[in-house]
Amino acid sequence: MSLVYDYSNPTAIHFGKGQIASIVKHLSKGNKILVVYGGGSIKNNGVYDEVKSALEGFNWIEFSGVEANPSYETLSKAVVLVKEQKVDFILAVGGGSVIDGSKYIAAASLYDGDGWDFLCGTATIEKALPLGAILTLPATGSESNTNAVVSKKSTNEKRFFASPFVSPLFAVLDPSVMSTLSDRQLANGLVDAFVHTCEQYLTCPNTSLLHDGYAETILRGLAKLASTWDNRKDAVWEENLMLLANQALNGFIGSGVAQDWATHMIGHELTAFYGVDHAQSLAVVQPSLLRVMIEQKSEKLAQMGENVFGIKNDNEAVIVAIENMYHSVGVTTNLNDYETVDNKVIENIIPSLEAHGMIAIGENQNITLDICEKILKMAM
Ligand code: NZQ
Ligand code: ZN
Repeated sequence: MSLVYDYSNPTAIHFGKGQIASIVKHLSKGNKILVVYGGGSIKNNGVYDEVKSALEGFNWIEFSGVEANPSYETLSKAVVLVKEQKVDFILAVGGGSVIDGSKYIAAASLYDGDGWDFLCGTATIEKALPLGAILTLPATGSESNTNAVVSKKSTNEKRFFASPFVSPLFAVLDPSVMSTLSDRQLANGLVDAFVHTCEQYLTCPNTSLLHDGYAETILRGLAKLASTWDNRKDAVWEENLMLLANQALNGFIGSGVAQDWATHMIGHELTAFYGVDHAQSLAVVQPSLLRVMIEQKSEKLAQMGENVFGIKNDNEAVIVAIENMYHSVGVTTNLNDYETVDNKVIENIIPSLEAHGMIAIGENQNITLDICEKILKMAM
């Protein structure tokens, strides 16, 4: 079957040390800029000061406190501020949560209704304020993609939207800002990027040598970083994680080919109910999902075995290799290892998947709620 796709990635990338200063190329003195950040890590690693000095002479204000898994409740306060202060440019400085939150702020600020409508699919984004991103945690690819994931604390919901209107105009990827990342966040970034690539690769066979070859390069690169975990404080190691995580979810490797995303959909519910980090939820779900769907995914698992891990004719061994890779960076694949997890996993997660319309997911839309239940039971 021949490929058909539309692809556009308009985000200008400024990669490398010292690139924060490049943001001024995209801003004008007439802008009213809102700098959005999280819990304050940018004040400990010099990023805030670099942004402040780049913005000297510009008209800017700030909004801090965007939490990991950004909440509708917090972001709504920023929307009020944008409207009151007539902000016309959003500058996100942080990881996926801050960037996703900024995308929400950019869209909700130009919408007359409640921005949550975008998350529950009752409204489509038709415009958004322009935004730029300074990435501090390579993981999600949010810095140059169209996606955002937002949580509503009051209802234990974690939902997503995608819109070309929230593509960042520019993204600064300076790997030197990673020096303050904890092992937990570095491992999360590696696992998240690996699973993003799998969601777009470990599906059905396709005919493009470019898509599969590109995905395999990313997977091999991430596996190599896991196997050289002891070097994680080296500049070259950090640089490679930033490169690989960005390319894993900038839209290209998934264009025109089958995509899965079932691990993410189940994982989001686990984060919403039990607060496990995004990547932690993925590491728990993915191996069980692969085991349950091993027949359907047999051709691509075999291809991945051969081209990524050097394993021939043994798909169970490929899944074990993935698990071992997660374990080697300190991420468990057993849901019960998380203290917050109770004995109500099935009764919480399955109805929630159903309420969110996730009743036939995966590349062939055949992962039903029954199969999700089987996957979750295997993950515990
Ligand atoms: O709050 P701050 O101070 O920024 O601290 C953060 C946060 O505590 C910290 N951190 C970030 N950069 C740091 C740093 N600490 C020290 N030094 C630095 N340089 O790390 C913690 C986690 O940050 P967060 O932004 O939550 O992590 P991540 O980048 O993994 O983002 C996760 C969020 O992105 C969503 C996830 O669901 C989750 O909500 N995703 C977004 C996607 C997208 N937009 O395409 C796709 C993904 O699949 C994912 O769902
Ligand atoms: Zn992810």
